Order: sequence, then C-alpha cells, then structure tokens
Amino acid sequence: MTLKNTETWGGVSRSFHWLIVALLIVQGALGLFHDDLPRGTMALHISLGVTILALAIARLVWRLYAGRPAPLAGVSVAQRRIAAFGHFVLYVLLFAVPITGWMMSNYGDHAVRWFGLFEMPRLVAPDDAAHEIMEGRHTQLFWALVIVAVLHALAAVHHHMFRRNTTLTRMLRGS
Ligand code: HEM
Ligand code: HEM
Repeated sequence: MTLKNTETWGGVSRSFHWLIVALLIVQGALGLFHDDLPRGTMALHISLGVTILALAIARLVWRLYAGRPAPLAGVSVAQRRIAAFGHFVLYVLLFAVPITGWMMSNYGDHAVRWFGLFEMPRLVAPDDAAHEIMEGRHTQLFWALVIVAVLHALAAVHHHMFRRNTTLTRMLRGS
C-alpha cells in the first residue's frame, strides 16, 4: 500500500478531500448566518477560513506530488476532460473564496487573526469602496463554489448509481 494516488485515491488525498468538504459546510453556515449567531462567530469564520486556505495549499502540493489514480475503464476521454476541468475550477475557488475574504477584511481595516494566536500579513490598505466590492465578490465566489461542488457531487453519485463504477468508492474508502 502506498499513500500516493497510484491505483486509487490514497489516504492523504481522501482525508484532505472530506475534511475540507466538512469544514466548508460549517464555514458556509457561519458566513451566511453570522448575524443570528453569537458575537465572535465572525472571528471563528475568519480563523476557519484561514485554516481552509492552508489545507487547500497543502492538499494541492500533495496532489501535485502524489498524482492521481489511473482513469477507470469505461469513462470516456471527454468525460475525463470535463471532470479534470471541474476539479481545476474547484481548486481555483478553494483559493479565491478565502483570499477575497481576507482582502475584504483588510480593505475594511480589520486585521486577520488566526484563533487569536497570530496575525496574517495585510494584503491591501484600507479602502471603503473596495471593501464593498470585495464583499460582493466573496459572496458570489462562494455561491459559484456551491454550484460547481453540487454538479461535481451529482456526477460522482451518477457514476456510483447508474454507471456502477468505483469513482465514488475510491474517493470514500479507497477501493
Ligand atoms: C473557504 C473559506 C470561506 C467560505 C466558504 C466563506 C463563506 C462566506 C459566506 C457564505 C459569507 C456570507 C456572505 C453573505 O451573507 O452575503 C461570508 C461572509 C464573510 N466572510 Fe467568508 N468565507 C470563507 C473565508 C473567509 C476568510 C478567510 C475571511 C477573512 C479572512 C472571511 C471573511 C468574511 C467576512 C468578514 C464576512 C462578512 C461579510 C459581511 O459583513 O456580511 N471569509 N463568508
Ligand atoms: C465543496 C465540496 C467539494 C470540493 C471543493 C471537492 C473538490 C474535489 C477535487 C479538487 C477533486 C480532485 C481530486 C483532488 O485533487 O483531490 C475531487 C475529487 C472527487 N470528489 Fe470532490 N469535492 C467536493 C465535494 C464532493 C462531494 C460532496 C462528493 C460526493 C458526493 C465528491 C466526490 C468526489 C469524487 C468521487 C472524486 C474523485 C473523482 C475522480 O476520481 O476523478 N466531492 N473533489
């Protein structure tokens, strides 16, 4: 057995995949409902967002090192290209959503702290107009991530239920 992605998705890529999915669900809820949640929710949203960004970087580095498993028989080249493009877009959004959040905070003259332990560098100088724009971008990119992730999940379920191949199980349990 190897941890790399040779015959199937190895344990490292699988752990990153499902940990990030779980954190994104919590993170989206914290963002959308922060007005109704206790004070301090936004600080948690920001710290968790920085954590997700760090995990996305680590995941991408691992993915570039460990590769991806061989394609399954019966999946056409066109389908593989669409899936690969979808994965690329998901990675771009995994970076773009937290980075726009970080920029939005700095434009609004708020420092970005990680669980009160340290402060992230300031990316941009305060600017009220840019703060407004970035707030819109952060929300739009979040919804783009939701849409692409739902299509991606539906494709995985389609492979599992109708094509009856191991696309989903090899990401769930590695076989
Ligand atoms: C992948 C990570 C992230 C996701 C999925 C996410 C998602 C969201 C969502 C859904 C909202 C609510 C938007 C709305 O009500 O229109 C929100 C708001 C917000 N996010 Fe994030 N976010 C992430 C990372 C971050 C990071 C890293 C920061 C800052 C460093 C941040 C700062 C904020 C702030 C300040 C708001 C409140 C905007 C307002 O005043 O309404 N987010 N986020
Ligand atoms: C926000 C949520 C999600 C994101 C950001 C995401 C992202 C990704 C990415 C980037 C890959 C490419 C492999 C890698 O580099 O790790 C991937 C693969 C995969 N994902 Fe997701 N995913 C999400 C949710 C889901 C859900 C809910 C399911 C199942 C219902 C799912 C099933 C799969 C499967 C089966 C693969 C392997 C595809 C293949 O072998 O070509 N994902 N995911």
